Amino acid sequence: MALVCVEDFEKKAHSVLEKNALDYYRSGAGEQFTLQLNRDAFRRIRIRPRCLRDVSVIDTSCHILGIDLRWPLGIAPSAMQKLAHPEGEGGNARAAGNAGSIYILSTLSTMSIEEVAAAAPNTNKWFQLYVYKDRSLTEQMVRRAEKANFKAIVLTVDAPIFGQRRSDIRNKFNLPPHLHLANFQGIKADGVISNNEATSGINAYVSSQFDSTLTWKDVTWLVNLTKLPIIVKGILTREDAVLAREFGCAGVIVSNHGARQIDTVPASIEALPEIVKAVGNDLVVMLDGGVTQGNDIFKALALGAKMVFVGRAALWGLACNGQKGVEDLLGVLKKDFEITLGLSGCQRLHDITSDMVTHESTYAK
Ligand code: FNR
Repeated sequence: MALVCVEDFEKKAHSVLEKNALDYYRSGAGEQFTLQLNRDAFRRIRIRPRCLRDVSVIDTSCHILGIDLRWPLGIAPSAMQKLAHPEGEGGNARAAGNAGSIYILSTLSTMSIEEVAAAAPNTNKWFQLYVYKDRSLTEQMVRRAEKANFKAIVLTVDAPIFGQRRSDIRNKFNLPPHLHLANFQGIKADGVISNNEATSGINAYVSSQFDSTLTWKDVTWLVNLTKLPIIVKGILTREDAVLAREFGCAGVIVSNHGARQIDTVPASIEALPEIVKAVGNDLVVMLDGGVTQGNDIFKALALGAKMVFVGRAALWGLACNGQKGVEDLLGVLKKDFEITLGLSGCQRLHDITSDMVTHESTYAK
């Protein structure tokens, strides 16, 4: 049967993934309130479409941090993509490149920085960084990303420790023995997420390796370490967005980590407006979390995001059919976005204005 929306890909992915991987990909933290909210909050925003504007040609192209893109949707970093399909990060990154998108590679990948660079040389790639207790190891990763032609460093700031994802704890989540955290193979923080008797293997790994003492002064360290633009990912408040500006970051990704860290934080789309208001003129504000429709992308742009990312949706595409599955999934989302643009009376992205969306409460008065 044809897969015509993200939900179709998700359903098929559920049928092909084994439980350890499926639960790891789909879960949120705690009671998963925010996981649902990330989706629901988009639906509480209504589009106010404009009519009788020439929409015979739709142009979704955009320019983000020095990169020309065919459209403003990219692939968020997610760990261990070979759990979804043997083509792993390489297949996902190639699909992003063929769709004219950005691919963000996770530190916790099952293909190394160099392998992904070789597999997807023509894709615009950013590297997502977790800061390890071993600072020289962290610096080495930045250097490797620079050398492999990654174009920005995405510093994830919402994961000094890992959230409690109940099914991973119940499953004692672990990486099967044939897979490794490829960026660390043969070096100190050995790339093994092993069976842990008490908890999720990834939580055990993170608490042993990640530097939970991290503060904004470490952002200064990173900004001074590299010429690549620094984007902080995981910002949910105007206060932190203002600090990101003060500390020399080029952009922020408004994100709650796919609702995997603290439950009951706001949906990313709810947090977006206060951040755009505070720093939108100075920083590139981007968003991820709960994006599954073309109209979600439209709403995020109307509220001031310059770029939007999908995490799980790409994993569902990858699980369905490797690189081709991600290409098909991105094709579905792009078509849906173009139709939303046209039916709202927009030819290009700058025609999307903030008065084209409103909260559902407007209509309840
Ligand atoms: C993630 N995310 C994530 N973020 C990050 O900075 N580094 C990482 O390694 C991971 N790993 C990861 C694994 C899995 C399975 C998921 C689902 C997510 C968070 C990710 O980048 C993004 O913020 C969310 O996935 C966006 O929400 P949606 O699109 O999944 O709803």
